[in-house]
Amino acid sequence: MSDPSRPYARGLAFRCLSETKYHPGMGIKDDLGSLPHPDMFKMYPGKRFPLPKPKAEGRGLFLALEQRRSKRRYTSGTLSLENLGALCYATQGVTGQSGPFVLRTAPSAGALYPFETYVFVTDVKALDQGLYHLDVREFALVMLQEGDLSNDLYRGCLNQAMAKKAQATFVWTHVLLRCAAKYRNRALRYIFLDLGHVCQNLTLAAAALDLGCCPIGAFLDDELNKLIGVDGVDESVVYLATVGLL
Ligand SMILES: Cc1cc2nc3c(=O)[nH]c(=O)nc-3n(C[C@H](O)[C@H](O)[C@H](O)COP(=O)(O)O)c2cc1C
Repeated sequence: MSDPSRPYARGLAFRCLSETKYHPGMGIKDDLGSLPHPDMFKMYPGKRFPLPKPKAEGRGLFLALEQRRSKRRYTSGTLSLENLGALCYATQGVTGQSGPFVLRTAPSAGALYPFETYVFVTDVKALDQGLYHLDVREFALVMLQEGDLSNDLYRGCLNQAMAKKAQATFVWTHVLLRCAAKYRNRALRYIFLDLGHVCQNLTLAAAALDLGCCPIGAFLDDELNKLIGVDGVDESVVYLATVGLL
């Protein structure tokens, strides 16, 4: 990317995001050759000290931790607005202020939150079908596009059926510069770490509400960027998660 108005797009972090995109009909091209599969666990031979497991009964968070599973099959029906609100709150609810920083339910390096949250609504009470953006400070969804976009979303998610069946699908884009202006190329690490926290909050909240939820990392980058209406450089889709009735 040699756009003189965006010199930062030449930086390692931006190039890495761009060069690891999926494109229709092809995998990632690289020069790594075949790679060995490392062991899935590291084991030290020393003495084991068994730990007590938390008792889940009546303990919301621990019950949600125990019950969370990636669930990809949903029944038809309508998701309540209360539940969608609770899920949005879990991901990005505002819980404090520290100087200029608007603090949220999920941590973020430097409190910079270098991402945006979008929600595809397919069947949610009191909301028209369409694409929405989450206004974090007003805690409101802003409609960007009206209509049933579930087929486009399904294709963008490499034909994963859950994207068509879900009542709502969260999509997170990076806004890398928000973080790179301070952390330079190291910002690349933080966007993924930050969004891991955000998505885990969503999966736990969904478990607590007896809803199905599944993260999605396999998608066609440019197709989804186009669908959302972002340019793929300053802002680009990095992660999604479906939510559906069980
Ligand atoms: C970063 C990330 C990307 C994922 N992408 C997909 C995906 O594209 N499709 C899918 O069906 N599951 C996806 N998953 C779900 C994993 O397959 C799932 O978490 C894993 O199998 C462990 O199962 P569990 O979540 O039920 O514990 C993803 C999970 C993560 C954390």
